[in-house]
Amino acid sequence: MFIEQFITGIMNRKTQIKLTEQFVRDKVAGFDSGHDWWHVARVRNLALYINEREAIADPFILEIAALLHDIADSKFSGEDSERPFSDIRHFLSGSGMEGLSDQVIEVIANVSFSNKKPSGNVKDPVLLILQDADRLDAIGAIGIARAFNYGGFRNRPLYIPDSDNSVINPSTISHFYDKLLKLRDMMNTPTGRTIAQERHDFLEKFLRQFFKEWTFAI
Ligand code: ADP
Ligand code: NI
Repeated sequence: MFIEQFITGIMNRKTQIKLTEQFVRDKVAGFDSGHDWWHVARVRNLALYINEREAIADPFILEIAALLHDIADSKFSGEDSERPFSDIRHFLSGSGMEGLSDQVIEVIANVSFSNKKPSGNVKDPVLLILQDADRLDAIGAIGIARAFNYGGFRNRPLYIPDSDNSVINPSTISHFYDKLLKLRDMMNTPTGRTIAQERHDFLEKFLRQFFKEWTFAI
């Protein structure tokens, strides 16, 4: 009896993950390529990879939270910033995951590094790992690709020489100094720090080469 229940539990979880994947694929279909399904897939797998080494979070809750982490982002929710959260709550309860709802919603509300008002359990291991995974996807080669993609979307210059004010004169290179180069020191876990170091080194290598090539402009 116990084994049967155990097997049913595992099967349900697999199904619940598939249902969540489908829910997220539908939601992110119109998002920019910095927040598309592939970003979600990378963050999910990075989060699970970190947790395999750290073993601090429930892997199932982590996976569900990672899949859902960007769909309530204020950038995509327009006027009604609570709407995505009620959609998520509705989805979770309709998929037999009502019990995870409060934790998952608190984690994804806190995960964005642009979130200035963290609240609730800011030490939840699910949050700590997911935050590392999301930040890691903003650095390294993919982070560079996402940054220039975002800059293109906002029609920003690649770089503005002699600018010392990135608020008045934003460029994609200024974003490296405003945010990307700071992420390595914001990691929550040792595994996150190890991966961040390699990706940070790559950002620095990229910038050295960028400025070397830029000398032809002056
Ligand atoms: P999150 O992953 O928390 O949703 P953001 O939405 O802030 O993060 O950023 C998504 C991607 O766009 C990241 O790779 C980030 O570096 C990039 N990005 C955000 N703001 C800028 C900017 N001003 N210039 C260049 N890239 C940016
Ligand atoms: Ni994200």
